[in-house]
Amino acid sequence: MRRGLMTGVDAAVLAVALPALAASPARPWMNPKLGPDARAELVLKQMTLDEQIRLLHGQFPTFMGKRPPGVQMSAGYVPGIPRLGIPDLTESDASLGVASAGRKDDEAVALPSGLALAATWDPKTAFASGAMIGKEARQKGFNVLLAGGANLFRDPRNGRNFEYLGEDPLLAGTLAGHTIRGIQSNHIVSTTKHFALNDQETGRMVLDAVIDEAALRESDLLAFEIAVETGRPGSVMCAYNKVNGAYACENPFLLTKVLRDDWGWPGWVMSDWGAVHGVAAAKAGLDQESGQQLDKQVYFDKPLKAAVASGEVPAARVRQMTKRYLRSLFATGVVDHPLAPGGFDARADGAVAQQAAEQAIVLLKTSPGLLPLAAHGGRIAVIGGHADVGVISGAGSSQVIPPGSVTFPKLKGAPAWGGGQVFHSSPPLAAIRARAGAGKVSFTDGVDLAAAAAAARAADVAVVFATQWSSEGMDIAMKLDGQQDELIAAVAAANPRTVVVLETAGPVAMPWRDRAAAILEAWYPGARGGEAIARVLFGEAEPQGRLPVSFPAGEAQLARPVLPGADQGLVEADAKAPQPKPFEVRYTEGSDVGYRGYARSGQAPLYPFGFGLTYTRFRYSGLTVTGGKSLTASLTVTNTGDRAGTDTPQLYLTAGPRRRQQRLLGWSKVALKPGESRRVTLVARPRMLADWDAGAHAWALAGGAYQVAVGADAATPVLKGSAKVAAAKLRP
Ligand code: BGC
Repeated sequence: MRRGLMTGVDAAVLAVALPALAASPARPWMNPKLGPDARAELVLKQMTLDEQIRLLHGQFPTFMGKRPPGVQMSAGYVPGIPRLGIPDLTESDASLGVASAGRKDDEAVALPSGLALAATWDPKTAFASGAMIGKEARQKGFNVLLAGGANLFRDPRNGRNFEYLGEDPLLAGTLAGHTIRGIQSNHIVSTTKHFALNDQETGRMVLDAVIDEAALRESDLLAFEIAVETGRPGSVMCAYNKVNGAYACENPFLLTKVLRDDWGWPGWVMSDWGAVHGVAAAKAGLDQESGQQLDKQVYFDKPLKAAVASGEVPAARVRQMTKRYLRSLFATGVVDHPLAPGGFDARADGAVAQQAAEQAIVLLKTSPGLLPLAAHGGRIAVIGGHADVGVISGAGSSQVIPPGSVTFPKLKGAPAWGGGQVFHSSPPLAAIRARAGAGKVSFTDGVDLAAAAAAARAADVAVVFATQWSSEGMDIAMKLDGQQDELIAAVAAANPRTVVVLETAGPVAMPWRDRAAAILEAWYPGARGGEAIARVLFGEAEPQGRLPVSFPAGEAQLARPVLPGADQGLVEADAKAPQPKPFEVRYTEGSDVGYRGYARSGQAPLYPFGFGLTYTRFRYSGLTVTGGKSLTASLTVTNTGDRAGTDTPQLYLTAGPRRRQQRLLGWSKVALKPGESRRVTLVARPRMLADWDAGAHAWALAGGAYQVAVGADAATPVLKGSAKVAAAKLRP
């Protein structure tokens, strides 16, 4: 990749990089000493209705035909108001890096998938990842990243799970929040999205997600609530689907009751691209229509003006919409810190992606004496997964395609508009060769099962790579693509020392699990994924990832064994395209998502939430639990093995005084040398212990004894305790 060169993208950036206007008596809103609300009010006073409305609908530059100078191929563009010093808004996808959106000169670094980030369980890594992609966004001329995906993982078949952060609201919300903080530390806006319950792709434009309020507050909304209070995103993007009967972008409960009245969030709500159905959305609480070319009409342009004239939408509501938008531009620093081009550093940014990938790798299974592999040890057969080319990534609007990426054809069921299977150019094969020594490593592509088995037989260790592709706009089967299950079975039968490396969107069936000697889940590992995998395989980095989702033993264990709408075909983001018939998705499991459902039913998943092995062992002892206004647990973690390693002790609620429900309450990451011990304290915030009381419209913390357990995963309590917590009503 080039460094320090002025690329086509940089040149385009220059066109929008105007200096911030100086504060003066005529422009008091440019005074950074004033608060964002005061500044927004001041500038709003100067604006005509037309100017306000101009800020409330955004273009989709990819479909603009002729783009104005300086406007890149990207997801979104809202022209500014130069006379008032309000800059253009230039929006790029997404959570995993600055997405390519069809641009050619695309020097962005791809992070590992969101689910991989969640597997790190590490807020610091989330912040560093966000800070890196936010920096690149600025460098490439964008002041909004359409990031912060925080939809809960309710179904392993959701084709966008790789953009999200797992099945637990505390884990997902915390990591989304810290990612958003990292992004916005660059004085740009991050969204959090897709608000709410966009938990499957099939029928996303028409489905109605049905759930009761308490369950929603304690699950998907809780993830967003934590993300919003931790990250303070400038914008929230509402989803395509309906929630309890009303489109998410036209839903007064979500957009006004929850976001404003309850959470007091001051930013602006932007729609998803093609998610607006009329000016009624403005009355419900939507502030800005995005990707206007995808809607049937540009509702927030002339129709909104007409609605103001007729009194259908009060002029004060339009001012409120505009104020929220301006307020976020002041609060995040978009106005005071105009974009500046250049400075891209692939090496430094790649190191951030690699570190996240290393921390994310989950060791699911291992056999004594096999891992870590010895450098310059025996012969290694590397097989399959295009390991000679790179590492797979997820498709759709979040796709980052750095130079050197190789694209294979898309798979069956993929939407017409999306790209193919993009492999980032970080080949595990090269990274393994560099460590194993010259002449020690063979490669077989895995197409011919007999040839793969023969290669495995001729080696001391077989490392077989397997992939599962996934894309926005489609859902997926919970299995490896093509004949990879047969490939792994054949290789494992030929060589008992077979290590399986999974590069998957999420959980897959593992019919060969008993035959494999070791299994690593590497997710979509990003721009430096091959290096990260090799470093963990050879023990240069310790495996420390923990599952952010339960791996089900089969689809029969899912809350909905058959995916709703599975017979409905394509998902189109364009509202003008033919749509499937509307249908309901009933989230009858309520807030018992993932591990909570397993705890309730007593079924055993293939691998539980929170699970992950290391190259060493840890022991827990000396649990003390104290109550009062909240609950605090302390324990001693000891590394009893002979290697350094990192453990992630987890604190779970198992039952409260009023109700039995398992909930993650807190966790910590502890790096320990062999023989070292450390006292760890985990604090459960009161809201995590409380239930949503829809009647009282508050979180109700019942007084009494709370039973908790500490373990290294959700299914294996190691130490148990309890403490009395005082009753309280908590503000929503
Ligand atoms: C996706 C959003 C994305 C937007 C703009 C939509 O189809 O759902 O996540 O930010 O497109 O590309």
